[in-house]
Order: sequence, then structure tokens, then C-alpha cells
Amino acid sequence: MSANSSQSVKAAQDQLAKTEGSQRILTVENVTVSFDGFKAVDNLSLSVNERELRVIIGPNGAGKTTLLDMICGKTQPTSGSIRFRDMELSAMPEFEIVRHGVGRKFQNPSIYEDLTVAENLEISIPQVHGVWASILFRRTPQVKARIEEIAQQIRLENHLHIKSGTLAHGQKQWLEIGMLLMQEPELLLLDEPVAGMSPREREQTAELLRTIALGKSLVVIEHDMEFVKSIASIVTVLHQGKLLSEGSIDDVQNDPRVIEVYLGH
Ligand SMILES: Nc1ncnc2c1ncn2[C@@H]1O[C@H](COP(=O)(O)OP(=O)(O)O)[C@@H](O)[C@H]1O
Ligand SMILES: [Mg+2]
Repeated sequence: MSANSSQSVKAAQDQLAKTEGSQRILTVENVTVSFDGFKAVDNLSLSVNERELRVIIGPNGAGKTTLLDMICGKTQPTSGSIRFRDMELSAMPEFEIVRHGVGRKFQNPSIYEDLTVAENLEISIPQVHGVWASILFRRTPQVKARIEEIAQQIRLENHLHIKSGTLAHGQKQWLEIGMLLMQEPELLLLDEPVAGMSPREREQTAELLRTIALGKSLVVIEHDMEFVKSIASIVTVLHQGKLLSEGSIDDVQNDPRVIEVYLGH
């Protein structure tokens, strides 16, 4: 990292530290994962603060999805440490990581197309166990209010009772974000949330993510630079499993190493 860009990273992080009380929610330290000797993520370190909206960019195959897989427990790192606040996540099963407040959205929406929007949100409430308990629980006014609140946030308040399969592609992506929000995670991991969306839907998604970031931390993988500009404070650039650059959007866009990687692609 050049002196110049590491200075501006530091300036950006100091700024964040001031505004956010500098609490770290996620610490990735010297993380490596090898698949048959191939290092998909190679000695990577990065950290994310409370209520930060971090964007991760990088060419195809850079290791972005693999990084999210490791944070959410789908893939075990070969070495290194991943901490959520003070908790070590790297040896924890997926369901426990979710229970501690880390929610993950995959690249393709995984909603139940035969259920309505409201039903999809309902079944995402985590603390419901057993059929009777769940039926009784779901009928409480608090649950109904929560579903309506989330539906409004994801712009589906007028579609609560239609089958999710009939939603537009962008609306399905929003529904899945809503399903994550029902779990009340403190850290959301989103893999390419605006893929396949129209420009208008992208704008609305940016607004949604900015609203979510008022109370939670987000790590968002994205390619669309207009979208990245509209949401990011700090951008992390990965390349061949390593951290290539990190800083404000202007810093990374002007970083010769980033330019080379993107133009050479
Ligand atoms: N389970 C796996 N087994 C073998 N190779 C993998 C596996 N998962 C990912 N890879 C490889 O690791 C690299 C990084 O992949 P990925 O994290 O999906 O990249 P990105 O999301 O940045 O496009 C790619 O070369 C991919 O082929
Ligand atoms: Mg990917």
C-alpha cells in the first residue's frame, strides 16, 4: 500500500472512529483458505466498525464470496482468526453464528416462491419453535406490526398477501433482505444485492441499505461503481485473495494498482 493511500485510509478510519465511537464489530486477521493448495483467500486482514457500511469490490475470482462464506461459517479458514466483537467465529457452526447476530444473503434470492410475502417474513422469525408455539406467536399483534414495519422498509407493504414467486426480480432481492432483517442481525453480509436490478431499483436499494446502516453494520459485495459510490464510506479491494487497496471510493478509484487490475481484466 502506498504511503499516500494508507494515509487516506487512516484518515477515513479516524473519521469513522470519531463518528461511531470506534467500536469494531468484525475483525478478520491473517485469514487464509486453501482449496487443494490454491489460496482463494490469502493472509487477509480487515476490520469493520459498528454501523459501518463497508463495500468489498474486486474482479471475479478475487475471493469475495469465499470471504463471506468464512465469516458466516459455511467455509472454515485454513488459518487465521475471524472475530465478531470478541467472539471467535472461525470454529463456530453456521446456525450459532446466525444466532449471535450475523446474517448472510447469498447471490441468488432464496425465498419461498409459493408463500406470500408476509409468510416469508413470518417464517424468518428465529425464536419460534414448535408448530403450536409458532402459530400462537405469529398471531400476536407485535409480530404483525414487525412484519408490516419490515415490509414498509423493503417497499413491499402493498404486496404482503401475494405469492412471492410473482414478484419482480428486484422485489425478491428486497424480500430476502427483509427476511434477514426479521432475524434482527447486527451484521449483515450481502453478496451482490443489486445484480439484475434496474437503475431505479438500485437507487432504492442504496437508500434501503443506508437506512439499515443507521443501526447495523453491513458488508456488501458489489461490482456496480455507481452503486458503490452511493453507499460506501470505505471500500476494500480484493485481488487474488489478497487486499489490494482500501480507502474512500476516490482513493481506490485513483489507486494505480486498482486501475491496472480492472483495466487488465
Ligand atoms: N469450494 C471451492 N473449491 C475450490 N475452489 C474454490 C471453491 N470456492 C471458491 N473457489 C475458488 O476460489 C476463487 C475465489 O472465488 P470466489 O470467492 O467465489 O470469488 P469472487 O466472489 O470474488 O468472484 C476462485 O478461483 C474460485 O474458483
Ligand atoms: Mg462472488
